[in-house]
Amino acid sequence: MTDAATPGGPLRVALPVALEVLEVRRENAGAVTVFLAREQGATPGLEVEAFVPGQFFMVWLPRVDEKPYAVSYVEPERLGITVQVRGPFSTRLAEMVPGERVGIRGPYGRGYHVPEELVDGEGAVLLGGGCGMAVLAPLAERLPRARIAQGARTADGLFFTERFHGQVLFTDDGSAGRRGYPTEWLAGQVQAGRVRAVYACGPEEMMVGLVGICRGAGVECQVSLERYMKCGIGVCGQCDCSGRRVCVEGPTLTARELAEMPDFGRRRRDKAGRVVEIGLRDVCPPAQRGPGPDPAGG
Ligand SMILES: Cc1cc2nc3c(=O)[nH]c(=O)nc-3n(C[C@H](O)[C@H](O)[C@H](O)COP(=O)(O)OP(=O)(O)OC[C@H]3O[C@@H](n4cnc5c(N)ncnc54)[C@H](O)[C@@H]3O)c2cc1C
Ligand code: FES
Repeated sequence: MTDAATPGGPLRVALPVALEVLEVRRENAGAVTVFLAREQGATPGLEVEAFVPGQFFMVWLPRVDEKPYAVSYVEPERLGITVQVRGPFSTRLAEMVPGERVGIRGPYGRGYHVPEELVDGEGAVLLGGGCGMAVLAPLAERLPRARIAQGARTADGLFFTERFHGQVLFTDDGSAGRRGYPTEWLAGQVQAGRVRAVYACGPEEMMVGLVGICRGAGVECQVSLERYMKCGIGVCGQCDCSGRRVCVEGPTLTARELAEMPDFGRRRRDKAGRVVEIGLRDVCPPAQRGPGPDPAGG
C-alpha cells in the first residue's frame, strides 16, 4: 500500500457522480451507513479503484451542501459511507432512502502509508475515537492481524463491534469494554514493546495524546486530521493547518509532521474561515498524553 496523494500534484477538478442509495443501515444510536451502488470502471470524478484507506470523498446533496466523508465499506458492488448525525448535512444524508441519489467525487488526499513489512498488520494498532472507525474500517480489512482499539463516550457510540472481532473497547462511563481512554491502553502496549505502528483517527484531543505517546517511544504513527473543508482539492485554503492544506497534504499526517505543526491541537478555521483557538495541546490531561515528556508540545 502506498501513498496515493500527490501533494502539489495536478489539480483534480471533477464533477460529482450521482450514485443510487441501495440501503441505509443503523450502526449505533447516532450513526448510519448509507450504501451506494458502485458504478463499474473509473469515471472522471470517481476513481474508487485508486482508493487508499485514509483518503476521503466529497459528498454532494443538491440544494444542501457538499462535505468530506470517508468510505467505510468498499465492496465490489457498493460503497458505504458511515454518517455520524451532527447538523443539517449529516441529518439529511442519514435520512436518505433507497432509490435517492447522492453525488460523490474522489478519492482525495493522502491515505495511510503501510510499509511492506507490515503487510498483514502484525504489530500494528488501529486506534479510533468517535466516528474515526469509519475512516479506519477499510484499513482494518486490509490488515487482518492488526489490533483495533476504539473509544466512545458510551456503549451506544461504538462502531462495528460485530464487523471486527477482538477489538479492545473503551467507554468514558464504563458501559461497554473498559472505562477510560484507548490511549491509556496504547501507552502500556507501547511501553511493553508490542507496537510497531499506529494508524489513528479520532477527536483531536485524543490525537494530541497519541502523538505524544508515539513520539516519546519512537513508534511509527499516522493520524487522520480533521479540518473544515470546502473544495477538497487544495484551492480555497479553508483546511489550512500551519501552512499545510489538509485536503491535499493530509488528511493523513505522521506524528513527526504533526509535532512540527504549531496549529495541531491549538487552532483551526471555522466555517467562515476565522481562526479559532482550541487549546488542546497545552492542557491535554496526562492520562491521555501518555508517559514521559510530551514531545508534541512546545
Ligand atoms: C477528511 C474528512 C473525513 C470525514 N469523514 C467522515 C465520516 O466518514 N463520517 C462522518 O460522520 N463524518 C466525517 N467527517 C466529518 C463530516 O464532514 C462532518 O461531520 C459533516 O460535514 C457535518 O456537517 P453537518 O452539516 O451535519 O454539521 P454541522 O453542524 O455543519 O457541523 C458539525 C461539525 O462537523 C464538522 N464539519 C462541518 N462541516 C465540515 C466540513 N465541510 N469539513 C470538515 N468538517 C466539517 C465541524 O467540526 C462542525 O463543528 C469527515 C471530515 C473530514 C475532514
Ligand atoms: S478544502 Fe479547499 S484547500 Fe483544502
